[in-house]
Amino acid sequence: MAVLETKISERIATIIFNRPDSLNALNLETLEFFHTTAKELAERKDVSVIVVTGAGEKAFIAGADIKHMQSLSPLQASRFGKLGQDCLFALENAPQITIAAVNGFALGGGCEFAMGCDLIYASEKAKFGQPEVNLGITPGFGGSQRLPRLVGPMKAREMIYTGEMIDAQEALRIGLVARVFPAAEFLGKVMEVAKTIASKGPEAIRRSKVMMRDGLGTDLVRGCAIERDHFALCFAHPDQKEGMSAFLEKRKPNWRD
Ligand code: CAA
Repeated sequence: MAVLETKISERIATIIFNRPDSLNALNLETLEFFHTTAKELAERKDVSVIVVTGAGEKAFIAGADIKHMQSLSPLQASRFGKLGQDCLFALENAPQITIAAVNGFALGGGCEFAMGCDLIYASEKAKFGQPEVNLGITPGFGGSQRLPRLVGPMKAREMIYTGEMIDAQEALRIGLVARVFPAAEFLGKVMEVAKTIASKGPEAIRRSKVMMRDGLGTDLVRGCAIERDHFALCFAHPDQKEGMSAFLEKRKPNWRD
């Protein structure tokens, strides 16, 4: 059985972490497979949205694989951390919108994988946490950097220093997730959002992702300059004429991609 499964349908790719017996913990094989898959999907023009989720009833991803990490040397740990971080940079740099469908535990590397996605949706039974301090280590796949940027430094410090889990409603309250859906209809609801995004102007969606990603790392004036450039370049693409003509002619647009 493959540690990762990928399905593509209606411009949406779904990547499923598939080690339910270990609560989809991330070992070397899974990370390498994921990195390759994410880079391959990034090249595909027929994919607009990538949904990442976990197999089984209990977990999205319960973290990096503790069995694998137990005997690592500092150099091996550095390589392991870099591979995890590279997986998330591959998602952030992909032209597609990425969605984490968090169906259960998202702990340590699991929470970090969710935060590498553009959007996080939680099932009502999801649990988030950075419990690394319980194991005598720190976050290693970008959690100490992305969590404060997403929820603010105060809540991030509390989560990382205590290692305590938060439930889906608390994750929603602090802005870690975009929405919480009932467990019974979870993946269907996430797919509805994915389909909505996939139906919009592809060039506009790609540019929206890049302007927010690049703008967040800079100051407001530079960020607005980045936005202006992308806004202007939309007018060099046929989707702009098509989208506006379709509105004025009261019909659905036919995007070029
Ligand atoms: N690595 C390896 N195996 C794991 C795992 C992990 N992160 N999380 C769970 N498992 C395994 C368990 O060892 C167990 O295997 P066996 O059946 O062979 O004993 C199986 O998954 C089921 O787990 P539990 O029996 O523990 O299930 P539970 O429902 O009682 O508890 C849990 C669930 C609270 C998530 C608990 O499994 C847990 O605390 N897991 C570890 C979570 C963690 O610490 N994650 C952070 C890892 S460090 C990290 O990710 C570093 C980084 O930033 C890169």
